Amino acid sequence: MNTQSPPTPLLQVADLRVHLHTHQGAVDAVRGIDFTLHRGETLGLVGESGCGKSLTALALMGLLPDAAQASGSILLDGQELVGLDDRALCRLRGNRIGMVFQEPMTALNPVHRIGDQVAEPLRLHRGLGRAAARREALALLERVGIADAARRLDAYPHQFSGGQRQRITIAMALACGPDLLIADEPTTALDVTVQQQILDLISDLVAERGMALILISHDLGVISQNADHMLVMYGGSVVESGPTEAVFATMAHPYTRGLFAARPQLVPRRPGERPRLATIPGTVPELAHLPAGCPFAGRCGFTMDACHTTPPPPVPLGALGALGAGHMARCIRLDAMPAAPEVGA
Ligand SMILES: Nc1ncnc2c1ncn2[C@@H]1O[C@H](COP(=O)(O)OP(=O)(O)OP(=O)(O)O)[C@@H](O)[C@H]1O
Ligand SMILES: [Mg+2]
Repeated sequence: MNTQSPPTPLLQVADLRVHLHTHQGAVDAVRGIDFTLHRGETLGLVGESGCGKSLTALALMGLLPDAAQASGSILLDGQELVGLDDRALCRLRGNRIGMVFQEPMTALNPVHRIGDQVAEPLRLHRGLGRAAARREALALLERVGIADAARRLDAYPHQFSGGQRQRITIAMALACGPDLLIADEPTTALDVTVQQQILDLISDLVAERGMALILISHDLGVISQNADHMLVMYGGSVVESGPTEAVFATMAHPYTRGLFAARPQLVPRRPGERPRLATIPGTVPELAHLPAGCPFAGRCGFTMDACHTTPPPPVPLGALGALGAGHMARCIRLDAMPAAPEVGA
């Protein structure tokens, strides 16, 4: 008998909600998210624009805008983050949680030299002196692949390409050796050829440092290649989640199917056919007008009356044995779904 208890998860999130005060009144932009993340693992968050991915990330970082408020539970190594004051959250940010944003210039200050910007968290959080922080900043910039970093420490952000700027923000996020890295669409603003290099860099660093990674993307391909587990979000809810391999093998939820069908294709699906971009009919509903039942009901081709009135409970999907453990979809029409299309088809 195995008497060893499982390792404590780095992050345990339960019923995370983000309440927003908008001009249309109070709405819930994130509606009860649950997940567990261990060190060394990558969790992918995927979904269309506006589904609540960034607000989820900002809630984890304690960086929500003034109009937003988090509730539920976020345990980082057993410590509750929901309700912590700004000072305590500020200590955690940078120290234990690092974030990489979509647009590097959001994180970089255009009027400060990059060496100083990477050194700042080292001085602030780790109390390093000027010279030691500069040495460490140089080592970090070299590690993330800034060529000739010693000479470029005193350059300004505009003197670098988009890909190099993203490497610099990754160096900043890593400066204090965080346990958790959150990358919110880290490659969306970059050239296609640079995207893979940045994703490879992030995944090498996660493995090398034993961090956990939350990777946010609207691109299923990025998630399939990089995440161990994934959450598919729609209208602030997780409609399907589980081990990445199991989710792709089944694509149980009609929304996951729709996302998969709508992925850009470079080659025709059939010989002679012009590549066409399939779309999911309709648009993401306004937060203030989300249906009472399943958030996807208004765009789904499989609905019955109950889909419009009652929020669907999570349905466990264990069909794939160990591979599928923890796989669930919130849908009451799973039995009506045809077999999943083959990935790569
Ligand atoms: N500061 C804010 N004030 C009001 N509404 C907001 C605010 N920030 C986000 N929202 C709304 O909350 C919802 C979720 O936004 P969020 O930024 O999390 O989406 P997302 O999934 O990250 O989308 P994208 O893929 O476009 O980045 C959206 O409807 C958005 O309009
Ligand atoms: Mg976003």
